[in-house]
Amino acid sequence: MGRVFSGVQPTGNIHIGNYLGALKQFVELQDENQCVYCIVDLHSITLPQEPKELKQHILDVAALYIAVGLDPKKSIVFIQSEVSGHAELAWVLMCNAYTGELSRMTQFKQKSKDKESAPAGLFTYPILMAADILLYDTDIVPVGNDQKQHIELTRDIAIRINNTYGDTFTIPEGRFLKEGARIMSLDDPVSKMSKSTPNADSRISLLDSPGKIKKSIMRATTDSEGSIRFDTENKPGISNLLTIYSVFSGKPITDLEKQYEGLGYGTLKKDLVDVVWNNLEPIQQRFNEIRTSRELQNILRDGAERAETIAEKTMKRVKERFGLGL
Ligand code: AQP
Repeated sequence: MGRVFSGVQPTGNIHIGNYLGALKQFVELQDENQCVYCIVDLHSITLPQEPKELKQHILDVAALYIAVGLDPKKSIVFIQSEVSGHAELAWVLMCNAYTGELSRMTQFKQKSKDKESAPAGLFTYPILMAADILLYDTDIVPVGNDQKQHIELTRDIAIRINNTYGDTFTIPEGRFLKEGARIMSLDDPVSKMSKSTPNADSRISLLDSPGKIKKSIMRATTDSEGSIRFDTENKPGISNLLTIYSVFSGKPITDLEKQYEGLGYGTLKKDLVDVVWNNLEPIQQRFNEIRTSRELQNILRDGAERAETIAEKTMKRVKERFGLGL
């Protein structure tokens, strides 16, 4: 049995990219591993958040974790800021990471590009992510492709510390899916789908109404060629729609290409609306049951206690290795 860790930022409602790239894996892994899944609220404040909204988003993400199939009896589900070891370990790691390696992170470059001066937390965010992972002696980290560079950095820092201070951390591996690891934006299919981009039609959130899903898919950017085939280079929009269709329906992309041969983009889009809604409707039903229930609070409290037990052991070991404290 391996230890699995991953998390989602409560920066908005989870979209189908987060679901297909990360959450589906979370669920698949929970039967054969010891899984720790976190709502990474400390990460979300690297950019300004409205406090009341943030609180709602934390609970929405927690309820969505359960709604997509995480079983709190099998997996530990908790809120990052409830376990102090994350921030504590991040400091120790920060003292063993270099500004040069952090400035190479593409996500920092993207998120800070229009800012005259970026918050320091945006720059050091990958170290907090490394702390999240290393705190739980993690073997496997199921994430989307956009996190590859951060996982590499985590491994580099952990190996560096193990070499200098003796065996301290388990070296984690990223787990990326072949399909769904990078769902693209519907209005700009060369950029990834994101929670925080201003245009809501660029994404489909797991809590979107059937009308919103229809509007966003029917407006999705395609091309003028007219044929339905998978070609990410020349047809990024259609390729993205085919990927979403394939992962939600379980049909291989080659079968979909045959099914839609000679048909128009409108037909593909209309069918995709149904495929997406058929998958999201049961998730939304379960979400509505759990979101306001007392059960959710209990799951999160219990999860934080179980996470704390593991985190305390790691922090004790880290302090011993570094000669910190009494
Ligand atoms: N478009 C995507 N396709 C596949 N996987 C994705 N992930 C994110 N976007 C896609 C994966 O979802 C998990 C949770 O992501 P996150 O909330 O921690 O942060 P993020 O990667 O920054 O996601 P967003 O949606 O783009 O949020 P914002 O807009 O707040 O930055 C991760 O495993 C991620 O790989």
